Amino acid sequence: MTSPAIKIAPSLLAADYAALADAIARVEAGGADQLHVDVMDGHFVPNITIGLPVVEAIRRRTRLPLDLHLMITDPDRYLEPFVRAGGDSLTVHVEACRHLHRTLERIRELGARAGVALNPATPPAVLDYALDGADLVLVMSVNPGFGGQAFIPATYAKLVDLKNRLGERPMEVSIDGGVKLEHCRPLVLRGATTLVAGSGIFSAADPGAEVRRFRQAALAAVSI
Ligand code: DX5
Ligand code: ZN
Repeated sequence: MTSPAIKIAPSLLAADYAALADAIARVEAGGADQLHVDVMDGHFVPNITIGLPVVEAIRRRTRLPLDLHLMITDPDRYLEPFVRAGGDSLTVHVEACRHLHRTLERIRELGARAGVALNPATPPAVLDYALDGADLVLVMSVNPGFGGQAFIPATYAKLVDLKNRLGERPMEVSIDGGVKLEHCRPLVLRGATTLVAGSGIFSAADPGAEVRRFRQAALAAVSI
């Protein structure tokens, strides 16, 4: 059983980059709703990962929506190329945007969904005057740059704060970093709609089955 309201988004950062097609096929078979792709530039975050050619290659391998998490300095320079490469949603960091409102507008103009990400130390209040331009808010529950870090518990309070600020807006609220099976229920109860998980899914023996487990855990919160 699937719920359109909750999305499970495996983060390919934790997959074997030499066997991405296989990793994608596994989570797709498990019912993943979208793929989370971490783009890191070695400036905004200390790590370097996927760039345009790899996003294009992933696009050719799946019909799932690609959720591009741009952990890059000056994202404006790359919005159009990443939409052309196949991004369905582009999520920029508020900490990397000089003119966030304009950047979100541009993403929508390009035909993609506009996302904005908050580092753990950034309060949701910073988005109060930008929310109408966003389709999704991504709350980082680790400091961005690496997979496999521990979930930061203050994320729970932050989610409640964000939810209050959203009011009736139909916003996708995504949580990214250290999300394991046991976090699904409390996160959904506090307003998360999309659960991004890298190591939580790809370190399992059967990532497809893990996607199903994540969904069950998330749905247990919806149905109470
Ligand atoms: C971290 C990335 C995450 C990462 C999460 O900077 O943005 O998407 O893949 O990986 P886990 O789930 O292993 O923390
Ligand atoms: Zn990410």
